Amino acid sequence: MDGNGRWAAARGLPRIFGHRAGVEAARRVVEAAPGAGVSILTLFAFSSDNWRRPPAEVDALMRLMGSYLQNETPRCIEQGVRLEVIGRRDRLDSALTSAIARAEAATAHGRRLRLRIAVDYSGRDAILAAARGIPELSRDALELAIGPAVDLLIRTGGERRLSDFLLWESAYAELVFTRTMWPDFGATDLAAAVRDFHSRDRRFGAVPPPAPRREQAWLD
Ligand code: FPP
Repeated sequence: MDGNGRWAAARGLPRIFGHRAGVEAARRVVEAAPGAGVSILTLFAFSSDNWRRPPAEVDALMRLMGSYLQNETPRCIEQGVRLEVIGRRDRLDSALTSAIARAEAATAHGRRLRLRIAVDYSGRDAILAAARGIPELSRDALELAIGPAVDLLIRTGGERRLSDFLLWESAYAELVFTRTMWPDFGATDLAAAVRDFHSRDRRFGAVPPPAPRREQAWLD
């Protein structure tokens, strides 16, 4: 969800206005996701490195997250969305962790879309935490502990890097980078990214199957 700050600055507004507009974009994308063929959607709301931002912005983001969870829970229930939060919880304040627990419990039966919101999340820390909980470490065990593989990773705002997001899970993700700022992103952009994804040739390290030879075609 990159580009909120620049979206606001371009309008002469404080950064928090961009984050508020970003919440609207998240709402649009969550609503459009099942129709676009997306069954699991992970939004990067706050990275473990975002604690380095000015305290006033961090505070505003945390409040926004709390109100998002509270306001969106009824809509999630209505739309069959199961909401989960991934990332560390020990550095979040207790009002936010309670709001997370309430939203997760209330939406647990949703089956149309699994919506994961990454808060105080670091892909490297997630790998370490998962590995620490596995007595006999193996690729399969880690894969199971860490979460579903990512098919499509979209980064808005013009940057072309992963910034510690879903690192293990994105081993074979198709990457889509767009200059669109997150607050301007919507259903049409999501559909375009999904179309782009379907046009890719995903070989997972293998080679494409050989084209039928002429004589084989003739024998058939
Ligand atoms: C990145 O843009 C955005 C964030 C770090 C915050 C995103 C969080 C929200 C929109 C609020 C919570 C939303 C949900 C769905 C729970 P940036 O600030 O780095 O923008 P910039 O690169 O233009 O400065």
